[in-house]
Amino acid sequence: MQKTVKKAEKGRSGFAVMAGLIGMIRPLLPVMTLAILMGCIGNLMASFLTVLGGYGLLAAAGFFSGSLKTVFGLIIVFAVLRGVLRYAEQASNHYIAFKLLAQIRHKVFAALRRLCPAKLDGSEKGNLISVITSDIELLEVFYAHTISPIAIAVLTSGFMVWFIGRLHPALGVLAAVCYLLVGAVIPIWNGKRGGDSGQRYRDSFGALNTVVLDNLYGLDEILQYGLQEQRLSEMRERTGALEEENRTLKNGETAQRVATDGVILFAGVLMAAAAAGLAGRGALLPGEAVIAVIAMMSSFGPAAALSALSNNLHHTLASGNRVLSILEEEPLVEDVTDGAGQFGGDIVCDGVSFSYDRQKEVLSNFSRTFAENKIHGILGKSGCGKSTLLKLLMRFYETDAGSIRYGDTPVGEIRTAALRQRVSYVTQETFLFGDTIENNIKVAKEDAGRDEVIAAAKKAAIHEFIMSLPNGYDTKLAELGDSVSGGERQRIGLARAFLHDGSMIFLDEPTSNIDSLNEGIILRSLEREKQNKTILLVSHRKSTMGIVDDMAAM
Ligand SMILES: Nc1ncnc2c1ncn2[C@@H]1O[C@H](COP(=O)(O)OP(=O)(O)O)[C@@H](O)[C@H]1O
Ligand SMILES: [Mg+2]
Repeated sequence: MQKTVKKAEKGRSGFAVMAGLIGMIRPLLPVMTLAILMGCIGNLMASFLTVLGGYGLLAAAGFFSGSLKTVFGLIIVFAVLRGVLRYAEQASNHYIAFKLLAQIRHKVFAALRRLCPAKLDGSEKGNLISVITSDIELLEVFYAHTISPIAIAVLTSGFMVWFIGRLHPALGVLAAVCYLLVGAVIPIWNGKRGGDSGQRYRDSFGALNTVVLDNLYGLDEILQYGLQEQRLSEMRERTGALEEENRTLKNGETAQRVATDGVILFAGVLMAAAAAGLAGRGALLPGEAVIAVIAMMSSFGPAAALSALSNNLHHTLASGNRVLSILEEEPLVEDVTDGAGQFGGDIVCDGVSFSYDRQKEVLSNFSRTFAENKIHGILGKSGCGKSTLLKLLMRFYETDAGSIRYGDTPVGEIRTAALRQRVSYVTQETFLFGDTIENNIKVAKEDAGRDEVIAAAKKAAIHEFIMSLPNGYDTKLAELGDSVSGGERQRIGLARAFLHDGSMIFLDEPTSNIDSLNEGIILRSLEREKQNKTILLVSHRKSTMGIVDDMAAM
């Protein structure tokens, strides 16, 4: 099978990211449209409350022939509706936001299921964690607080241009120019000028956080090696940098606010002058001139709200780009769903070559047959590719050259689920869930009874330790905190493998943190298992190899 070349994060234009993000939420588009519509009507009602007030004044002064009662009636209706619509808009926006976060998380996890285990194996783990936590979280900002404000600003401003333009086309054009200045020109100018100041601020914030956490976790080392002054000055430096970024950010915000408010005031003056001029030439009634000015001044809300977006938009789109890239990434290895369920016999590696990055070969032309129902030691110094070999046997990756077979069946033709069922694979790091010890062992066989769990724990030499705990097998690992030692962790991993009871057991440095007494117990348990099991035992220590039938040096 052809190995897929790892795709770098795609560079998409801002519009492409927006289109991709909107495309992801098609089922929710009706609700979003509704929210936008309610937002538009609500904002227009807010503007027209003032405009109606103007009509009321004109009617009272005799410049307007409408009935004062109707005007005040409408004001009351608009005021109440404004409140109701605002509530409904917010409610739908939050409905959308929460639904969306859940849906996107599902999509990302589905993508990860396709991409794993290779995706979580390498250096990208940290990156993925930030995508899953902060990037997805930021998309909520895009959906709930970016799309609708933009749509609402465009639609309401458009309506107001029409309304003012009906009084006189020239005034409509003037209004359009003012809305564009406030809602588009100033935000874009500010975004350009400020550049990534928002991002830089967050980066500095993260850097300071890291230093503070390092200082807390590393307190013992700091005291031991007398690093107090050095660490303190580093922290001061970071704090200073953060302060500097904060000042830049705040200066930018202030400049933007001043510019926005200035334009809004200037727009009022300009509109008044233009309307007065037109009224003077008889092109406009005096009452209409007053209404035009009031309508202009009372309707900048939605456009002005956009000015706050520009600071974050760039960052939000970068997050969107990363999420979209994960969703579209091709897996290195696809799960086999229609392959062989039955397989067995010797495990044969035939001229296997492999590299992670297509540069440094980790395995080159490796050939070896691991005979059935025997214990095979795999010995070699750190970094020579022992763990990689096991990952290839589990088909986390495809080989670049050569083949791996179980009996006569190439590993690529075995159903992935069957492979994982048949092989008990213990990696170098055992992950423990925040659950009881019993449940942590039972992840290997969910329906196992307590007696089976205990038998497995005895084989892994962890039973006595568990019994010494206050709640025995029901002890929650969270209660033990960080006090589970590396060796105890490894032995829980081994207990899982014994419980899983696959016909093959692959153990990656299973006893590296375990004392020789307990190692002896575990090795004897393995020896008893070998009658009907093929066991691969990886180690960099000769002492572990006492029980093996056959040894491969790498
Ligand atoms: N996921 C990975 N991505 C890139 N390089 C890796 C990855 N895993 C291991 N390597 C590299 O491959 C080499 C062999 O690693 P490994 O098989 O873990 O060695 P061993 O288990 O023998 O100590 C090392 O140089 C290691 O840095
Ligand atoms: Mg290793």
